[in-house]
Amino acid sequence: MGYIGEMSKKNDPVNVILAGLKREEYRGYDSAGISFFNGKPCVETLKVAGKIAALERLIFEKKPETSHSAIIGHTRWATHGIPNEINAHPHTDCGHEIAVVHNGIIENYKQLRNMLGHDGHKFVSSTDTEVIPHLIERARRTGSRTFEESVMEALKELIGSFAVLVLCSDEPDKIIAARRGSPLLLGLGEKEFFVASDPMAICEYTDRAIYLNDGEMTMVTEDGYEILNYHDGSSGKSEVVKFDISLANGHAKKGEYEHFMLKEISEAPEVIFNACKGRIDFETFSVTFGELDEFEEKLKRVKKIMFAACGTSYYASLSGKYIFEKLPDISGAEAFYASEFRYHHPKIDADTLLISISQSGETADTLEALREAKKYDALTLGIVNVSGSAIAREVDIPVYCHAGPEIAVASTKAFISQVVVLAAVALRLSELKGGESEERKTVIRELGNLPEKVALVLAAKNIIRHVAEISQKYGNFLYLGRRYNWPTALEGALKLKEISYIHAEGYPSGEMKHGPLALVDNSFPTFAIAVKDEVVYDKVLSNLQELKARGGPIIAVATEGDSAILELADHVIFIPETLPELSPILAVIPCQLFAYFVAVLKKRDIDQPRNLAKSVTVE
Ligand code: M6R
Repeated sequence: MGYIGEMSKKNDPVNVILAGLKREEYRGYDSAGISFFNGKPCVETLKVAGKIAALERLIFEKKPETSHSAIIGHTRWATHGIPNEINAHPHTDCGHEIAVVHNGIIENYKQLRNMLGHDGHKFVSSTDTEVIPHLIERARRTGSRTFEESVMEALKELIGSFAVLVLCSDEPDKIIAARRGSPLLLGLGEKEFFVASDPMAICEYTDRAIYLNDGEMTMVTEDGYEILNYHDGSSGKSEVVKFDISLANGHAKKGEYEHFMLKEISEAPEVIFNACKGRIDFETFSVTFGELDEFEEKLKRVKKIMFAACGTSYYASLSGKYIFEKLPDISGAEAFYASEFRYHHPKIDADTLLISISQSGETADTLEALREAKKYDALTLGIVNVSGSAIAREVDIPVYCHAGPEIAVASTKAFISQVVVLAAVALRLSELKGGESEERKTVIRELGNLPEKVALVLAAKNIIRHVAEISQKYGNFLYLGRRYNWPTALEGALKLKEISYIHAEGYPSGEMKHGPLALVDNSFPTFAIAVKDEVVYDKVLSNLQELKARGGPIIAVATEGDSAILELADHVIFIPETLPELSPILAVIPCQLFAYFVAVLKKRDIDQPRNLAKSVTVE
């Protein structure tokens, strides 16, 4: 994030940056830093390993004085080099006259570093970013170029993705910002400007911004800004957009809850309600989707549906795939890890609908899969939670989850909202392509019952905590589910891994006997999703028998009234009966709460687990 404004105005530049970085912390939180001028010829840089709170403490101690209001700051998620103070951004040139913060990855940094090393440049960090200030330094020295010309020259040498902000002692009242691949926007205030990765950082100060395009750079002073294409110096386009004030996501408070994760799991009933609101009419059994209206004709022609997403959003898409396939008049759908999408995209064309699913709307892999599909003229629909995010802006049809801010790194309510929105989109598509259908009515009716049923699952919190207390001693877990709940098993294992740091594997129950069973003994438990489903329930029970025969402890999520499961499982968490295709929405909650309680017992950093970021903005 960068800030520049009239000195002596209401906003203290250091505080503006700290507040903005706190809101950007979801993108990474392993180290942080700021650069500014304090009347000396060199730029002053303060950096720490750890979270923004550590930077805040350092700033409180040092009480930095800024002589110019231009200031840049960064919170990092390490790609190149361990998360320590040296590798934290900003990075500077040899003479500490240039400071740079950077998001993205410079793919040719090794070659550039060797070349610059030959020319006598000294590197102190292990990052890819550090080549940027040195490239600018070289351009500035060799051709006596201006600040602006030097940055343009340096950017042309970079291969990879970047959003960069640069300060230079030649013009201490200016910030230069540029992007390729990684998002960047310029926020417009009154005699003050902000540059940031996303609107969240600046929503407290302004609701007007310009999203820079790839290949553009902006030169910002307190008197104004200019946007250029850094390849040829031509003038850039500068459409000012007003973003929604609901972007003030960073204001979310924990309230009575100890952690955001628990708060967000507990919000499930209203999350389902909000995902359906204004879309599903439970009296007429119809689905209205304003967002889809303009594309109705194209949607009717769709022959192939593909999902691309990462992590939890990918598991939501696997769940959604089953719902799409179950409804009449939809030919089927395929789900892809977004990071693998481009390697085997089978014949995408104008009759393909690509559905990108992302809570943050900023995930680089998902964004790249979307761009890939657009190359082949696919119609693109994004199911996103954060409005104004990169994916929401780049798809043809943005569809919002309306789940409210999700702050905990472990995604919980987003999964639930994504599956519900996927069901609603599937219902609308099926309606568009066919006529009346009893099957659709059944799904709609049950969606209306879900908030109440989810509340009942949440009420079993103490039982789940008790099971967690007994089970937290284990070092490994197998998660099993079949058909609709295979994705739930995958999601359950991911939740346990990411916040408790316990190894867990998700498998389709039927696969267990093809290898993983070798792991099972009395120290290797299984968490099984064994809910009522006329097609697979008996088979799941047989799979659990196989585990029991090998002494494996079993925790099962089962449907209320099921007595057979009590004979097999050591612990049972009951959930209300629902349609099998919607059962993941209920069954995922015990998985989320189990992971949460195990992690609390293990005293983990629940909302910001180690090594992770809420939004992964590099490929
Ligand atoms: O913001 P997105 O939904 O695109 O994020 C995708 C994944 O990075 C995310 O779901 C991740 O797997 C979560 N930490 C899982 O809890």
